[in-house]
Amino acid sequence: MSEQDTQQDSPSGKDPLVIFTPSGKRGRFPAGTPVLQAARSLGVDLDSVCGGRGICSKCQITPSYGDFSKHGVTVHPDALSDWNKVEQRYEDKRGLKPGRRLGCQAQVLRDVVIDVPPESQVHKQVIRKRADTREIIMDAATRLYFVEVEEPDMHEPTGDFERLAKALESQWGLTGVTAELSLMARLQPVLRKGGWKVSVAVHHDHTGAAPKVIEIWPGLHEGGLYGLAIDLGSTTIAAHLTDLEDGTVKAASGVMNPQIRFGEDLMSRVSYVMMNPGGDKEMTQAVREALSVLASELAEEAGIDPSLIVEAVVVCNPVMHHLFLGIDPVELGQAPFALATSSSLSLPTAELDLTTINPRARAYILPCIAGHVGADAAAVALSEAPEQSDDLVLIIDVGTNAEILLGDRTRVLACSSPTGPAFEGAQISSGQRAAPGAIERVEINPETKEPRFRIIGCELWSDEAGFDAEAAASGITGICGSGIIEAVAEMRMAGILDGSGLIGSAEQVGTPRCIAEGRTHAYVLHDGSAEGGPLVTVTQGDIRAIQLAKSALYAGARLLMDERGVDKVDRIVLAGAFGAHISTKHAMVLGMIPDAPLDKVTSAGNAAGTGARIALCNIGARRTIEANVRKITKVETAIAPAFQAHFVAANALPHATDPFPELGKVVTLPKVSFNAGGEGGGRDRRRRRRG
Ligand code: FES
Repeated sequence: MSEQDTQQDSPSGKDPLVIFTPSGKRGRFPAGTPVLQAARSLGVDLDSVCGGRGICSKCQITPSYGDFSKHGVTVHPDALSDWNKVEQRYEDKRGLKPGRRLGCQAQVLRDVVIDVPPESQVHKQVIRKRADTREIIMDAATRLYFVEVEEPDMHEPTGDFERLAKALESQWGLTGVTAELSLMARLQPVLRKGGWKVSVAVHHDHTGAAPKVIEIWPGLHEGGLYGLAIDLGSTTIAAHLTDLEDGTVKAASGVMNPQIRFGEDLMSRVSYVMMNPGGDKEMTQAVREALSVLASELAEEAGIDPSLIVEAVVVCNPVMHHLFLGIDPVELGQAPFALATSSSLSLPTAELDLTTINPRARAYILPCIAGHVGADAAAVALSEAPEQSDDLVLIIDVGTNAEILLGDRTRVLACSSPTGPAFEGAQISSGQRAAPGAIERVEINPETKEPRFRIIGCELWSDEAGFDAEAAASGITGICGSGIIEAVAEMRMAGILDGSGLIGSAEQVGTPRCIAEGRTHAYVLHDGSAEGGPLVTVTQGDIRAIQLAKSALYAGARLLMDERGVDKVDRIVLAGAFGAHISTKHAMVLGMIPDAPLDKVTSAGNAAGTGARIALCNIGARRTIEANVRKITKVETAIAPAFQAHFVAANALPHATDPFPELGKVVTLPKVSFNAGGEGGGRDRRRRRRG
């Protein structure tokens, strides 16, 4: 090294300067300091599982060379120590990307700029599909540690676990670790097999309780750690198998909630328990079994050993919460709707009979907000963060039981509303779950009253060339939730349906697609009967079911707006398993949601499920939501007199009294009335009479 160089590195005889990017953290360290050690002392986010032993490769860094005027340094090619044997061994075995070094092996010799690539950061940012959502930073509750444990010594007798605990304290600073009996039983053979070098999965409780060793492997465990984010809905159970290191979703799936056979909605399940002693136990067992099966299916799909699933986060409504936990839900069926516990729960999954994952895995159940507003609403709040919103946001999680939140930075209100399963295609004559063959998009020509539609699994519209051939595989089987919303709204826009929700006759509407059904009418969307297929119609009963569901949704939102003293909101977020598929324009034509500029209505997809993923990936999010839930104002819809009034007024399409000026800017609804009893009986009669 020339004198000139030395002076450049250490102008005042100081130690070499190390600058980390992207954090920008910098400091001087004596020549010979490993990069990992420099990173640690500066608080730079550089990962390590093996503690600097050169075997985990988590500490990879990229040194940069040349002039860095921004940082005021010149980095010379010999700024770091030479490539060493440990790095060569790793390169030979696994290969390192060009330019990469192992941070625990490379030593600082001269001024250097070091980049920490995203995959080497402990608190990695999780890649999310939606750009407008808050980022998830990885900080999982369960983490992997590699330790070297002292061998036993007859002259200084201590237990193997005590020496493991000592190693975790001295090598990783974890104090007071504990373990269950079943782990103790695994300990001795694994320690000996690993030659006293083992990897352990340690669960950190967000409340500060002692860390728990939940699994142990000989040597370096490279199979990863996984967790399940579970959205336990009344109708469907959705789960995401997630990598606890980088937050990626390895497999995702949903199944019907088997409790449906005991009752379609929550209150009918509570009634089942009231009328059938022991019914709660049956339902608890059914849902736990379904979750165990779902977990093993997801592990198989992802190609991972199910014993590597060490955590589960569950979000659900209060009745599901109690039934899953094995608590009788009858108190939730009557005022004052007392929960057995509203706090979050952190417990072994074994207590929940999740038998197919690691036997010492831990479950975290988000807190409930109130007797009717559950952990699923808390999860939506975690995902959508209304408490951080500058403008007033209304968040509606559409499901069998809708969770509704309204708020901004000043205050957040929450309620739930019993919409029933109509929006999910249930209680609809041609309704079905969203599956190939289900009609999901509908358009009706307002002049000819002829429909065109799209089915799930086919990109073409029904009137496009090639549709019949493409649709042949699945057939046209029925209509799903988003399809029924569009169908009803299109019928309203085309003048087939009047503002009170009555379907006109063939004569009134002017199309043979309106067929008589007893004293009411139905609109034929698709007639496949000639080929042995179904007749897909929207009946008067279907319209009533949608009206009831949407009135409940709207009334819940209005109740929160009353409480807040506003009659409009700045923006609306539609969430729910199928929230992303709902056309916002059609939802507003139905009056499912209050009037708002259409570009201010967005979809958030399964926000409750996202909230579960956030709580799974980031332990701090558990503390955040627990604190936020305490600040949310709960509004009880079941006993609010105004709810009934709002519900009745919301029956009309879009609404009996509330104006929809924003909707009016983009859609003109025909003023038809088909009430044969007096008001109308024909097309445009009301308009003509007024005129
Ligand atoms: Fe494990 Fe460097 S810290 S290889």
